[in-house]
Amino acid sequence: MTLSPLVCRWFGPILLAICAVYSGAGRCDVALPSLLDRVHPVMARNGMAVTQDALASQVGVEILRQGGNAVDAAVAVGFALAVTLPQAGNLGGGGFMLVHHAANKQTEAIDFRETAPAAIRRDFYLNDKGEVDETRIRYSHQAAGVPGTVAGLAIAHGRHGRLPWFRLLAPAIQLAEQGIPVNLDLALSLHEARERMARWPASRAIFFKSDGSGYQPGELLRQTDLAASLKLIAEQGPPAFYEGEIARRLVADMQANGGLITADDLKNYRVVVREPVRGRYRGYEIVSMPPPSSGGVHLIQLLNMLENWPLAEWGANSAAVVHRLAEAMKLAYADRSEYLGDPDFVKVPVAGLTSKAYAKELAARIEPNRARPAAEIKPGQPRQHESEQTTHYSVIDRDGNAVAVTYTLNFSYGSGIVAAGTGILLNNEMDDFAAKPGAPNAYGLIGGDANAVAPGKRPLSSMSPTFVLEDGQAVLVTGSPGGSRIITTVLQIVSNIIDHQMNIAEATLAPRMHHQWLPDELRLEEGFSPDSVRLLREWGHTVVFKEAIGDTQSIVRTPAGLYGFSDTRRPGGLAAGY
Ligand code: GLY
Repeated sequence: MTLSPLVCRWFGPILLAICAVYSGAGRCDVALPSLLDRVHPVMARNGMAVTQDALASQVGVEILRQGGNAVDAAVAVGFALAVTLPQAGNLGGGGFMLVHHAANKQTEAIDFRETAPAAIRRDFYLNDKGEVDETRIRYSHQAAGVPGTVAGLAIAHGRHGRLPWFRLLAPAIQLAEQGIPVNLDLALSLHEARERMARWPASRAIFFKSDGSGYQPGELLRQTDLAASLKLIAEQGPPAFYEGEIARRLVADMQANGGLITADDLKNYRVVVREPVRGRYRGYEIVSMPPPSSGGVHLIQLLNMLENWPLAEWGANSAAVVHRLAEAMKLAYADRSEYLGDPDFVKVPVAGLTSKAYAKELAARIEPNRARPAAEIKPGQPRQHESEQTTHYSVIDRDGNAVAVTYTLNFSYGSGIVAAGTGILLNNEMDDFAAKPGAPNAYGLIGGDANAVAPGKRPLSSMSPTFVLEDGQAVLVTGSPGGSRIITTVLQIVSNIIDHQMNIAEATLAPRMHHQWLPDELRLEEGFSPDSVRLLREWGHTVVFKEAIGDTQSIVRTPAGLYGFSDTRRPGGLAAGY
């Protein structure tokens, strides 16, 4: 086994001994910092689940302890988060799961993204003036795509699970029935979402008290309708959701409120198992989500560009590095607007966009001390060969099997609408389509024909569940929420670890930057040095400081054990292991 710097560098004296045994003198050639000198992550020997909610992380670890594998734990976490993190955990949304098998070194991508209802038409969301009707596409029953989460978790379980299905739903049912203590994050986010949620009777009845007041931290939130839906799914499997009692209630709610989703839409929903998109970065293999996510393609495109520069030498978050990242991001997001869409409807030039040669061409166009205005940038020519409350979680089991899941309702609480009698919040994923060419969606992303609205089509996503592999084994599992910022957040986690030799805690806590071509602004978190900011402004960047970017949930696997870190940008997460 090769022990590369990725594995060797973090663990000071303990790992020095292990490195010596495994690699022999000279193999582990990076200076090993003392663990005590570093911000350090949570460690476990056998298995780990890192999620945005502590209760859900504990559910995942309990399933691992009971002999479940990483997929079993990921399925149980997916259902638990629908109860404990209603902002993003869901039954009424969709997402992506990457599964890596340690034994045969195979990885697959499970696509359970929502689909557009059959009744949709290309200009459906335009008003009389030809403008996008934002209320309709974001806050109405017509905002919802056909949900994929229940089918996706069931397919994952059917293909890879070890424990019985009903056991994986039991913790979620219990949490919904008995209630969860409302944490600060939930109390605050419900307060923020009050206006759009409280107008819907079923949402108001669940997420606000009978006198209309909000829940305070520490109070108990019970979700009895959701518990009943979960029980039906536990007993009958996905047919309960797509053809049975839950389907009937969802469709009745759609019909009563001008929604588009029909019984046939639900019955016809299909999960797609896809080949992940792959690349290499400084010796490591990068495996991520293919279209209809733009995440994996542009993560690899960006890493390919970064490989042309000595980032380690220039230093993490130095002006030189931030400038190159920003310029590379502009080019990648310009390509995204032109080429990315549902591959079952449009031809996406994945090979061209992820080729080293194309990245070299793009990198050569980047000037060292000048920010190119967005107006000068157009999509390139690859050759043919959140509010934004998505959530991500990562799991590794004792055999080294790994699962990375990013799933979403799109905004916090999706459209804010609970389908009456189900306890299930509806997504507003239709806003991820380019409803009108060139008109920005809620994340400021623009698109064209490739991501135009069409019946049965999956809206383009940025969700990027990602593995870094070494010798065919998962050594990093990561991902993030954050809408358009997901791709750049995951990029910085990977680069912080591989280029800047940070451990997973340091890589997570380092201040983040983001550029997406349009709007033409370089977005920074607090914490960048004033010297760097001054240089970036001198080079022509429009620097803006905005709220925190992303919320990563990551695990690193080493011979010494598993190291996890739950991002502290949002409260309530936990890296739990055993
Ligand atoms: N709804 C955010 C995304 O899929 O990228």
